[in-house]
Amino acid sequence: MPYEVQGVIAGGKGEAVSLRPVIVPDPGPGEAVVGVQACGVCHTDLHYREGGINDDFPFLLGHEAAGVVEAVGDGVTAVEPGDYVILNWRAVCGNCRACLRGRPWYCFATHNASQKMTLEDGTPLSPALGIGAFASRTLVAAGQCTKVSAEARPAVAGLLGCGVMAGLGAAINTGGVTRGDTVAVIGCGGVGSAAVLGSSVAGASRIIAVDIDDRKLEWAARFGATHTVNSRDADPVEAIRDLTGGHGADVVIEAVGRPETYKQAFYARDLAGTVVLVGVPTPEMMLELPLLDVFGRGGSLKSSWYGDCLPSRDFPMLIDLYLQGRLDLDGFVTETITLGEVEDAFAKMHRGEVLRSVVVL
Ligand code: APR
Ligand code: ZN
Ligand code: ZN
Repeated sequence: MPYEVQGVIAGGKGEAVSLRPVIVPDPGPGEAVVGVQACGVCHTDLHYREGGINDDFPFLLGHEAAGVVEAVGDGVTAVEPGDYVILNWRAVCGNCRACLRGRPWYCFATHNASQKMTLEDGTPLSPALGIGAFASRTLVAAGQCTKVSAEARPAVAGLLGCGVMAGLGAAINTGGVTRGDTVAVIGCGGVGSAAVLGSSVAGASRIIAVDIDDRKLEWAARFGATHTVNSRDADPVEAIRDLTGGHGADVVIEAVGRPETYKQAFYARDLAGTVVLVGVPTPEMMLELPLLDVFGRGGSLKSSWYGDCLPSRDFPMLIDLYLQGRLDLDGFVTETITLGEVEDAFAKMHRGEVLRSVVVL
């Protein structure tokens, strides 16, 4: 029998979201219905609401979620009802060229549910990032469910499904931060702070956090930043060089997504160092660099897409570290809220007051 639940719907470009009844069908072949227990509020949800991703309104928002599998369709063997899972927006196929070449984070045949959730009148909904978890139940592809230890509280576990994973992975997977490295992170919101934490767990010797907001720098210090720089008060490139014996950092992670901060990252790294771009730029942004500097400084310029994560490998491992007290994921949950408070949470996010607001159901 289909389920009826309340969901957070973005009905039209720029319109405030509203709670409306959502019909969730029984899972078809390869699909699962998940009882959502928590779902974080992410910039991408706001971006959907503003029409910045596509025009496929109405959207069912929410995509950083954890919950319990309630039902599975035919042919599903990887998860079963009762499993505690984190949802991911990149269920890799395992067969495309990217997967076969060992770069599944670039899979171009990812799985989503085939059926649509709908409004009461039958209007099909577009679930944010193929998830749509601001609702007490949602329909996903079974491959979007990654089983983890049920001991991790849902408000924390769900965050690995997007922004926090993006930051941790930018440091650990893309940047390859290793014991003894010096790291600088430019922009310390939820993603940048997670990059600080990832660098700390990976054994970096110095972690320099850069932001224009002192509150973010205080948070970054909690996650393991050894030094903080407010780039309104000091040139961050010079500050990072000063703090690294004049060299620049081995790895610089840019978590803002702007040309000027990317340029700072480029010049703040040591010769042969690595720059990781995890902040998402907009289409019109351009960057001009002297080609001789690209040539002369060596090293690598990388981008990190969802932290280059492989959910089935990374989520259980990170939850394990969290349960051992070695990964401070609790620090990302600034507040827990109800489904009806998502619009307020967008405003707080916009004002930079939260790392994450998390809806708990
Ligand atoms: N220099 C340094 N920090 C800056 C600058 C700047 N010029 N401009 C903004 N910031 C800081 C903000 O103060 C904030 O702390 O960058 C941070 C951005 O953080 P959030 O707005 O919380 O965004 P977050 O969720 O961390 O995502 C950052 O990564 O995945 C992408 O789409 C996401 O582009 C976004 C970026
Ligand atoms: Zn693939
Ligand atoms: Zn997200």
